[in-house]
Amino acid sequence: MAFQPLGFVFLFLLGVQGVQITTTTRQTIYGVGASGAWWVNDLALYPNDVRQNISDLLLNQTAGLGLTDYRYNLGGGGVGVTTWDRAAETPYVSDGVYNWSADAAGTYYLKEAAQQGVPVLTLFVNSAPTTMTSNNQSCGGDLVTDRIPAYVQYLTDVISHWKSEGVEFTHVSPMNEPDDSFSSCGQEGMQVVPQQRAEVVTTLAASLKAAGLSTQVIADESSETSNYVSDEPVWLNATVGESLGGNCHHLYDFANATTQQEVFEYGRNLSGGVPTWFTEICCYNAADSSEADDPLAALTYSSQYDPTMLSGLRMAHLVWQSFTYAEDSHWDWWTALSNEIGCTLSENSTCWDGIQSDGWDDGLIYYDPDYNSTQNYDIKLAKRYYVLKHFTKGVPIGSIRRAVTPDSDTDDGAWRVLAFDYDASCEQYSTCDYTPYSVVAMNAQWNASSITLTSDGTFNLTQPTAMYRTSVTEDYAEVQAPALSANGSLVIDAPEMSIFTLFFQ
Ligand SMILES: *[C@@H]1O[C@H](CO)[C@@H](O)[C@H](O)[C@H]1NC(C)=O
Ligand SMILES: *[C@@H]1O[C@H](CO)[C@@H](O)[C@H](O)[C@H]1NC(C)=O
Ligand SMILES: *[C@@H]1O[C@H](CO)[C@@H](O)[C@H](O)[C@H]1NC(C)=O
Ligand SMILES: *[C@@H]1O[C@H](CO)[C@@H](O)[C@H](O)[C@H]1NC(C)=O
Ligand SMILES: *[C@@H]1O[C@H](CO)[C@@H](O)[C@H](O)[C@H]1NC(C)=O
Ligand SMILES: *[C@@H]1O[C@H](CO)[C@@H](O)[C@H](O)[C@H]1NC(C)=O
Ligand SMILES: *[C@@H]1O[C@H](CO)[C@@H](O)[C@H](O)[C@H]1NC(C)=O
Ligand SMILES: *[C@@H]1O[C@H](CO)[C@@H](O)[C@H](O)[C@H]1NC(C)=O
Ligand SMILES: *[C@@H]1O[C@H](CO)[C@@H](O)[C@H](O)[C@H]1NC(C)=O
Ligand SMILES: *[C@@H]1O[C@H](CO)[C@@H](O)[C@H](O)[C@H]1NC(C)=O
Ligand SMILES: *[C@@H]1O[C@H](CO)[C@@H](O)[C@H](O)[C@H]1NC(C)=O
Ligand SMILES: *[C@@H]1O[C@H](CO)[C@@H](O)[C@H](O)[C@H]1NC(C)=O
Repeated sequence: MAFQPLGFVFLFLLGVQGVQITTTTRQTIYGVGASGAWWVNDLALYPNDVRQNISDLLLNQTAGLGLTDYRYNLGGGGVGVTTWDRAAETPYVSDGVYNWSADAAGTYYLKEAAQQGVPVLTLFVNSAPTTMTSNNQSCGGDLVTDRIPAYVQYLTDVISHWKSEGVEFTHVSPMNEPDDSFSSCGQEGMQVVPQQRAEVVTTLAASLKAAGLSTQVIADESSETSNYVSDEPVWLNATVGESLGGNCHHLYDFANATTQQEVFEYGRNLSGGVPTWFTEICCYNAADSSEADDPLAALTYSSQYDPTMLSGLRMAHLVWQSFTYAEDSHWDWWTALSNEIGCTLSENSTCWDGIQSDGWDDGLIYYDPDYNSTQNYDIKLAKRYYVLKHFTKGVPIGSIRRAVTPDSDTDDGAWRVLAFDYDASCEQYSTCDYTPYSVVAMNAQWNASSITLTSDGTFNLTQPTAMYRTSVTEDYAEVQAPALSANGSLVIDAPEMSIFTLFFQ
């Protein structure tokens, strides 16, 4: 075994980039997903074969991206919302009275997700029905405290209904960005002040349990770390944590890795150890325009449609920060599809192949915003679609992250590496020889590069059984895995701007 610690020293003496995979296990990962807001309303007007193809591309667990979480948006009725496709229908008619034919557009993909066997199905809400909001609208108001019992009953009834239809929600998120009422009404939203959130969470969890449902509550989908640090101490403690399956957050301030580490560890401390979930992000560009081409640049909320590896690796870097620093147990991109391409396909049929400053990086797959007049039902898969597949496949539900060293987000190196166990028996390392299940590694620079993977000396790496690569020219392509060296190391030779998943079992 002596050669391995020695090898570690040599790697650094020689200046070769290398990381060590350890047997130190960290958090369990419970899903990688995206949401069904609000493209489902456009896709309802598409030919059936395209609609079905989108289901296969996103949700098929063997042939497609294989999202392991699908977030169904339960609409509030869209009252007051000015963007037609963001005005989601609700089944609510009046307290205890429902119209289960409502939201056929959204429930189409919900049923697809169940039929395709997506393991985590989340119901999330932007706004309660209008009889429960302070302004009788689906945007710009507050959740009415006296109506929390009615709201909880409504959510329980909707989840019970779907269970009777064979669609079992594993999770429910009763408030999405409750720090914002969305008074601009471009979409649904309601404010739920921090003082209301414990009641919503605990009474919803009790109501679900009383109805015989195993659905777990996740909350509170704070928009950014600044909301999170001010709001969570108001409502979240270890008692409330007993009603919570996940303490979820967004990251629209794009807080750096060390801030994420501190803030979300604080959250787990507050809640008595409830896992933190990263449940939404999109829409970014380099905070400093001098880093416009740098995939590891600090990011800021911004427009820009970028279907290339640049945005793909920026997303992968966010996943890496979330898993390595925030130590989140779940990771979701915002919407699965978007039409925010920022250009006009009828004027330039290839415009969505390039970066467009007026569009948005909010989808994984794109469609023509002018489909109604052009009858162009083509779709465009952004590189983010393929990059996310490195995680849906490399990090299945129940994966356990293994620490790798170094894991710094601040050094000059442009590689970021993650390692995972999967088979439950490996958790104790009794039967599986310490072999990791997968390694996800990215070369986030506009230069070819190599990296050497070694063990930390307490186990031996084995020959990878398969390797997949996404790069400027390849889309989750199976490529020849590197041969295990006699000294137990693995060298990945990477083209510029590429991400790899290696499987060992
Ligand atoms: C291990 O073997 C590989 C391939 O032969 C070589 O590139 C690398 O330098 C070796 N590492 C050490 C620490 O000897
Ligand atoms: C589904 O869409 C993909 C990506 O555009 C395309 O390559 C494929 O041919 C489509 N499949 C079907 C069955 O339409
Ligand atoms: C139920 O919702 C569907 C779809 O929006 C609508 O067409 C129908 O009229 C509604 N039925 C009732 C009884 O409200
Ligand atoms: C997923 O795709 C595979 C390969 O095309 C197909 O055999 C399978 O039936 C699909 N699964 C579902 C649930 O449709
Ligand atoms: C909301 O509707 C209720 C019941 O119809 C009514 O009493 C109340 O005045 C309305 N509130 C607003 C802000 O319009
Ligand atoms: C936790 O928060 C709930 C809701 O605010 C409160 O009722 C309870 O007393 C708190 N428990 C502790 C131990 O602070
Ligand atoms: C991360 O952000 C915090 C808060 O803005 C700042 O104080 C800290 O210096 C940053 N750390 C790094 C490594 O950039
Ligand atoms: C979380 O709790 C642990 C154990 O008490 C403590 O060491 C750590 O500093 C706390 N972290 C934060 C960010 O509060
Ligand atoms: C069409 O858009 C692509 C991608 O942005 C761009 O490279 C190309 O120059 C455009 N073509 C024309 C004719 O403007
Ligand atoms: C698209 O056409 C359908 C009817 O074919 C119509 O209901 C819908 O409002 C149109 N959408 C837009 C955005 O124009
Ligand atoms: C690629 O690497 C070379 C050699 O280290 C360096 O001079 C060059 O600046 C790098 N190019 C980019 C785009 O980083
Ligand atoms: C690693 O492999 C070496 C050489 O085959 C062997 O001597 C050693 O026992 C192995 N170590 C472990 C932890 O399996």
